[in-house]
Amino acid sequence: MGDQRSSFTGKLGFVLAAAGSAVGLGNIWRFPYLAAQYGGGIFLLVYLVLALTFGYALMTAEIAIGRKTGLSAIGAFKALDKRFGFIGYIAALVPMIILPYYSVIGGWVSKYLYAFITGQATAAASDAYFGAFIGQAGEPLGWFLLFIGLTALVVLFGVEKGIEKVSKIMMPVLVVLALVIAIYSVFLPGAWEGVKYYVLPDFSKFSGTTVLAAMGQLFYSMSLAMGIMITYGSYMKKEVSLESSVKQIEIFDTGIAFMAGLMVIPAVFAFSGGDAAALGKGPSLMFVTLPKVFASMPGGAIIGAVFFLLVLFAALTSSISLMETVVSIFQDKLKWNRTVTCLVVLVGCILLGAPSSLGFGPWSGITFFGTMRFLDFFDFISNSVLMPIVAFLTCIFVGYILKPKTLIDEVESSGAFKRKGLFTVVIKYFAPICIVLILGFSILEAMGKITV
Ligand code: TRP
Repeated sequence: MGDQRSSFTGKLGFVLAAAGSAVGLGNIWRFPYLAAQYGGGIFLLVYLVLALTFGYALMTAEIAIGRKTGLSAIGAFKALDKRFGFIGYIAALVPMIILPYYSVIGGWVSKYLYAFITGQATAAASDAYFGAFIGQAGEPLGWFLLFIGLTALVVLFGVEKGIEKVSKIMMPVLVVLALVIAIYSVFLPGAWEGVKYYVLPDFSKFSGTTVLAAMGQLFYSMSLAMGIMITYGSYMKKEVSLESSVKQIEIFDTGIAFMAGLMVIPAVFAFSGGDAAALGKGPSLMFVTLPKVFASMPGGAIIGAVFFLLVLFAALTSSISLMETVVSIFQDKLKWNRTVTCLVVLVGCILLGAPSSLGFGPWSGITFFGTMRFLDFFDFISNSVLMPIVAFLTCIFVGYILKPKTLIDEVESSGAFKRKGLFTVVIKYFAPICIVLILGFSILEAMGKITV
């Protein structure tokens, strides 16, 4: 890190940059399939409640820690209290686990863009297309290598500023296009049942895993519990209002996720008649459903191509900042030069990502906890195990060691902090107790020890 930290020019710059990190495949690809899998409306409700409590408090805490110390995660915890530097290290592990499998999905998006550009839109809409694609060894692996290679090139040559500029234009276009697709989806024949499934909570579907999945998704989607928001906070100017920035980032991120659900879930009902198996497709859901939507749309082949191009950009900006994070951790700690670090990180990512890709093909026989393939397993370890642990430790540290007052003062130094009561209660009691309960239950459940 240089002596002089550069900073975002103002509130808008900060909110856009943080939202740029937050909005990615998590919103467009991950949120809809989790909502479909975990009971629709009940998942949405739990997610919203958690976003307004956990998400809000944790994001405020992380940005405040970053702004107060002016450091990124590892340094920030250490600077606040020597004994708690280890939280920063655990947080640093998370992007290292996410980046490889994130890039496998990025590869899938690239493949679909290619398919739509080369006039295979109709073929892509058939049921067997996606399964046949990921079931191979070489092809998905090739797309994964292309995606991670592109990410590494950008990080190596430091041209992310250019990519960022392009994506600042493309992200709003993506939002508008997603809105159009969502409206179209909702009006497909038979889709209304899906809208009901998505927005009306069915309390009989509530379980410990619903909450854990929603919590993991919240952390993932908002780039929390992995040190990212601490880093962003360290670049934030002292006079920009922290509370209202957090509010805007949350609204932005959640709004896009909600819309992505509307794009995908009603369409699943329209094309499958509400078949539960179609809802439980997991990571492949978006790739199976959206091509069908495009196939039924006038001009769908072109709309599909544009859509996957925009998603690819959203995915690339996220993978670039993930890799940038990993590279800078190694660089800071080991003092390697940038080129060497980039290459080492690239090779590590390829080694860790290849099993996630092969896990849908030749390695599909290898599973964890019964049914999880490699990709689901890495996703589970990072989002459902490590991130809750980091979030728990952050709450304990802020609530009892550092004391909420320290961060409240930081927030208030730049404006009002209306919800400081809520912040304190969530950080000290609500969040830590819930995390322990949910984590305990869900790990037992994943191991098949209990059924909730
Ligand atoms: N939040 C991103 C998404 O929704 C994924 C993500 C997690 C991320 N951690 C990140 C992106 C760190 C950039 C940096 O897709």
